[in-house]
Order: sequence, then C-alpha cells, then structure tokens
Amino acid sequence: MKGTVLITGGAGFIGSHVASELIRAGYHVRVLDSLVTQVHGETPGRPGYLHPDAEFMLGDVRNPEILDEALSGIDAVYHLVALVGVGQSMYQIAEYTSVNNWGTALLLERLMKHRVNKLVVASSMSVYGEGLYVTPSGQPYEHASRTVRQLKARQWDMRTPDGLPLHPAPTPETKQPSLASVYALSKYDQEQMCLMVGRAYGVPTVAVRFFNAYGPHQSLSNPYTGVLAIFGSRLLNGKRPIIFEDGQQLRDFVSVYDVARACRLALEADEAQDQVFNVGSGDKVTIEEVAYKLAKVLGKRLEPEITGNYRVGDIRHCYPDMTLTERVLGYKPEVTLEAGMSDLAEWLERQTAQDRFGEMQHELASRGLVV
Ligand SMILES: NC(=O)c1ccc[n+]([C@@H]2O[C@H](COP(=O)([O-])OP(=O)(O)OC[C@H]3O[C@@H](n4cnc5c(N)ncnc54)[C@H](O)[C@@H]3O)[C@@H](O)[C@H]2O)c1
Repeated sequence: MKGTVLITGGAGFIGSHVASELIRAGYHVRVLDSLVTQVHGETPGRPGYLHPDAEFMLGDVRNPEILDEALSGIDAVYHLVALVGVGQSMYQIAEYTSVNNWGTALLLERLMKHRVNKLVVASSMSVYGEGLYVTPSGQPYEHASRTVRQLKARQWDMRTPDGLPLHPAPTPETKQPSLASVYALSKYDQEQMCLMVGRAYGVPTVAVRFFNAYGPHQSLSNPYTGVLAIFGSRLLNGKRPIIFEDGQQLRDFVSVYDVARACRLALEADEAQDQVFNVGSGDKVTIEEVAYKLAKVLGKRLEPEITGNYRVGDIRHCYPDMTLTERVLGYKPEVTLEAGMSDLAEWLERQTAQDRFGEMQHELASRGLVV
C-alpha cells in the first residue's frame, strides 16, 4: 500500500477517474462528496462508476466535523470539490463562493491539524481568461479582450487597441490571470489559497490547471459544464449541438484518463511542489470541428447549429503550453482525440441523457448573459 489519499469531490467526473488511477497504482482512496443534485440527479447514491475499492463518505466539504473524519489517517489530499458552471457562477454568486472559496478555506484550516505529505488542488484554464496571443511582429500579447461593441458587431477575433490582428499562441502557466467569471475567480482563489497556506505550513502543494476534460462519467444532466457532454446530450436526444459565435474558438480537449494520470504524477513527482501546471492534450481544435467529430462517432447526421450569439465572459481562444508539465511531471498525453471520442461515444450510447441546454440558455438569457 502506497498510502491513503482523500479525494474531495471524488464521486464527480474527474475525481472518479483519479480514484481509479490511484487504486490501480496501489493507493487506498477515500472519497468525500455531497453528491450535488445538478451533477448526480434528484435521488443520488454512490455512483456505480466509482471504483469498488474506493471508500465513500457522503458529506459536505463545508462541514468541519465531516472534514475531520474524512482527513483521519490520510497521507495526501486531492481537492477537487467545486461547483463548475461558468455561466451559472454569474448568478449563483453566493453559492459558488461558499462551496469553492469558503469550502477550500475550511479544508485548509482542518489541514493544519491533520498534516499531509501532499496537497493537489484542481484549478482551471478559466483563470487565464483569453489565452496568450502574438502581435503581427511576433511579440507576446497577454491582455487580449473584446469589448461589448465588438461582440455586438460580431467581430469575434482579437485585435490590439489600435486594430492590429492578434494570433493565438500556446498559453504558459506564467501568463497573467484574467478572471472573467465568478467561477474563474474562485478557481484562482482555490489554487492560490492552497499554494499560500501549503508554503506557510510546509505542505508540498501543487495546482493543476485542467483544460477541457472529456470522457465517461461527465454529468449529462448538468447543462453548465463540459461542452462535449452538452453536445453529447443534444445528439443523443436527436438535436443539433448549438454553438456560440462562429464556431472557430480554439480549445484543447484532454481525455480524462490523461487528466487522471497527470494528477497521479502531481502527487508522485518530488520536484512538483509550490507550482502550477497546465493539463491538456497539447493539441488544439475548433469547437465546430469537435461537434462534427462527435456527431460522426455517434453515427448521427446532425450538423451543429452556429448561432452567432455570444455569452458574456466567453473566451475566444485558449490552449496550453505543456512544456513545464512534461518536464517536471514527466507527463505525456497518451489518448488521441479520435480514440478518446470513440471511447466517449461508446459510453454515451449506454446513457440516457436529459438535454437541459434550453433551460440553461433561458436562465442566462433572462439575465442578459447570452446575447
Ligand atoms: N471538467 C473539466 O473540464 C474541468 C476543467 C477545469 C477544471 N476542472 C475542475 O476539476 C474539478 C472536478 O471537476 P469535474 O468536472 O469532475 O466536476 P464534477 O461536478 O463532476 O465533480 C465535482 C464533484 O464535487 C462534488 N461537490 C460539489 N460541492 C460539494 C460540496 N460542497 N461538498 C462535497 N462535495 C461537493 C459534486 O457532487 C461532484 O461530485 C473541479 O474543481 C473543477 O473546477 C474541471
């Protein structure tokens, strides 16, 4: 036995795969999860996909007594609990701040009593806001943004204030954060709070900034997250995926199996401490292309609908520079988008998906967050 690891939020999409990855590698895993309804449905129980050897504790990370119980006998912690809807975070501000920021603060206070050898906290590409760009003369440009006027005029691509075109480039961990949603703010808060407290108390701490993770177990009933899960739910219900802007937004879709491996490496690599790492596939793809690919692997003849609408705070292009993660963690992505999508399609075909995209769209539109 290599040690006992607590995964907060371990019954969720990424956490369940991290649990399996660690159990396969010889760790004992305890999961603490409150099984929130939006992710797990109205009458949730221990998810069937959770590895049978994982110990499961039902409870809220904001309950100090439950945290004390969960942390007893633990050698390392993965803090994966979060509410994860970018758009929803813009109106459920108190709840997002309570779970993501306050929940992390409470966990850190309890960790002063229960000392662990490593803390790994899940962060997100959303902390970057727009990714890195370069000017026509090849200079890096970190502060790309679009005004509402540009968006209203459907001028999707980035320009400098004097109108020069900007080209997207891989985003390194050193790029200044640009926080465009309450969710992004809370992820930055989570990672920085963990790094800061870890440093102060000598707990080796690592933050992993996930890009667009996809794969089996992603909630199909949560319309606020996981673009491939949302497209998958639409397609399974015979509906066309709906795409904002012109569909040419660039993203990095990373298989959840690769994400889980990166998480294990973050625990095991001694040099990985007091640092932040990008976790992606190293490949970029447009949203339109990924919608076509998913329809194809699912055998559906449903073209995406490109609406030309936009969501407040949406990012045009962001994909990672993986140099640091590859060097320090020894991580190399292993699952190609083609292989990962086939695996996802196989899983999707066995699910009944509730398509709640319309509901989400209505919630955001009624608050002026989709235009
Ligand atoms: N999925 C992605 O592409 C992605 C990208 C970037 C970052 N992340 C981060 O990775 C982590 C895991 O995300 P995921 O996609 O697996 O989401 P998920 O919603 O599937 O998992 C989160 C889990 O946390 C649990 N949870 C929520 N509030 C809780 C509380 N108060 N107490 C206890 N448990 C609670 C939920 O029940 C759920 O099982 C999150 O921190 C998220 O911000 C995910």
